[in-house]
Amino acid sequence: MPGIEVLPSEKKEELKNRLIREHYAIEKALMEYMRIVHEEYSKNPAKYRKYINEVFKNIRDRLLPHFEFEEKELFPLFKGYPFVEEFLREHKEFTNMIENAIKEQNMEKKLQLLDNLAKILKSHAEKENIKILPLLAHH
Ligand SMILES: [Fe+2]
Ligand SMILES: [Fe+2]
Repeated sequence: MPGIEVLPSEKKEELKNRLIREHYAIEKALMEYMRIVHEEYSKNPAKYRKYINEVFKNIRDRLLPHFEFEEKELFPLFKGYPFVEEFLREHKEFTNMIENAIKEQNMEKKLQLLDNLAKILKSHAEKENIKILPLLAHH
């Protein structure tokens, strides 16, 4: 796969827009999940317990196609850039975190894991924007 320096500007524009759009959509969905979780859980913890794992699974289903886009289409353009290893490692961490959150039995800990996950996903996406978007800008 050719590097970023030989990529046509229309392709850069397309990748840039997709990255921005997907980060925005994921963050929006996460905020909504968090709002519902905290609201519903405070109203009726017993009922809530039954569907918290669905929340984690929904987050996983949203994240995996995004990670796949980044890992197969975006990161290979930046061979040799140190941020690639870091972002790949974080993708693995998120996947593990979600699996652990699903297995966790303690409800307080599950909620804590959800908050943590949302927080570090947000900073992961911000780091990607900061490192990658300028490299996709037109010259
Ligand atoms: Fe990522
Ligand atoms: Fe991302």
